Amino acid sequence: MRQSGSPQTFRVKNFGCQMNVYDGERMAELLAENGMTAAPEGEDADLVVLNTCHIREKAAEKVYSDIGRLAKGDGSKPMIAVAGCVAQAEGDEIMARAPAVGLVVGPQAYHRLPAMIERAARGERAADTDMPANAKFAALPARRKVGPSAFLTVQEGCDKFCTYCVVPYTRGAEISRPFSDLVAEAERLVEGGAREITLLGQNVNAWTGEDGKGRNVGLDGLIRQLAKSPELKRIRYTTSHPKDVTDGLIAVHGEVEKLMPYLHLPVQSGSNRVLKAMNRSHTAESYLKLLDRFRAMRPDIALSGDFIVGFPGETEAEFEETLRLVDAVGYAQAYSFKYSPRPGTPAAAMDGQIPREVMDERLQRLQAALGRDQLAFNAMSVGKRCKVLVERRGKKPGQWLGKSPWLQSVFFEGDAAIGDLVDVELAEAGPNSVHGRLLEAVAV
Ligand code: 5AD
Ligand code: SF4
Repeated sequence: MRQSGSPQTFRVKNFGCQMNVYDGERMAELLAENGMTAAPEGEDADLVVLNTCHIREKAAEKVYSDIGRLAKGDGSKPMIAVAGCVAQAEGDEIMARAPAVGLVVGPQAYHRLPAMIERAARGERAADTDMPANAKFAALPARRKVGPSAFLTVQEGCDKFCTYCVVPYTRGAEISRPFSDLVAEAERLVEGGAREITLLGQNVNAWTGEDGKGRNVGLDGLIRQLAKSPELKRIRYTTSHPKDVTDGLIAVHGEVEKLMPYLHLPVQSGSNRVLKAMNRSHTAESYLKLLDRFRAMRPDIALSGDFIVGFPGETEAEFEETLRLVDAVGYAQAYSFKYSPRPGTPAAAMDGQIPREVMDERLQRLQAALGRDQLAFNAMSVGKRCKVLVERRGKKPGQWLGKSPWLQSVFFEGDAAIGDLVDVELAEAGPNSVHGRLLEAVAV
């Protein structure tokens, strides 16, 4: 009987950003360490962890519909744990509204999950949304087996308080994990099979720490250190904030070969009035200048960004400024969203909320422009020879899927294995992927 007794099997369901993917992996490792096993695909689990996202209304709503779906039925329902940013923001409300939820755990309290599960199994429902900086990382078990491309959270939280955003409230103030912990965790990841590490943070380039010699270093210093590992072939980082871009970060793109030519630098809008109302610290011009400096250092760098359409008060002319910025940049890839008012954020109370139809229409136009540029970027790369890190099998027999240095998904056929870095000629461009021709398999 599952409601009594401790759960034996678990499933972690991730929503939202890559940080949640990382957190989800760490929670799974923690549960495994405590004697539970991951439920096989397609089978019910005794415990379901919903690792939630609060960034937009739609994402947050999914939690309640998932709880409803899981709680329905025949009495053999799983224990439900709500984790992540909705847990942080609405923990007490979830406990009150959804009796099927056994426990609520905020993003800084995951290390207390096993004890909370024990208590929930005894019928003691609990919520833990404390925010002690760094405690969870120290308390989580060591990394074990990982795929060829692994995430490593180096920084969490945000002090920027963009007026539309819940992150400063759900993830708390900016904290950086210590240099030595990160170097050690990266070593474990490499030992576990990682060939690429993506450094994660809400403002990853706000990371600072003290290196082995006691010097203060920024993200570029960490990247330089990690690049020394011979088995680690690729380094990426995301998401960056224009305000925290340093000369050192730009320079490292020209100096460290293992740092992939890709930059995700959200801009949100091309209108300086909107940017100011968003409390972004940059203008369209200062953002473009930054990109020019990255491009000067690494001419082939692929650029990515985030956009919000329909921020309160955004006029048609201001939206068109965003389209002009997109034209000026030529993004390789980008994310775009309709503004979603989030409870407790300043923008939610602003005048001039934009009607849904207007947002829909603007988003369509923006996505058409971004889609056009993404296809153009892929088409431009046809004929290039590059390394592809093989991440998994493709859908067709004999087909493999991996990533180019520019983070394009590349399909190819031939003799390869997961974790290989193979030489490929990019042959045919689609909107979301590129078909490649295998030149030579190189085991790493
Ligand atoms: N509405 C729409 N998009 C948002 N984002 C953050 N908050 C909101 C919101 N309230 C977007 C931003 C950010 C990305 C992670 O999500 O573009 O960069
Ligand atoms: Fe949110 Fe702005 Fe912080 Fe990004 S920088 S997490 S958009 S508040």
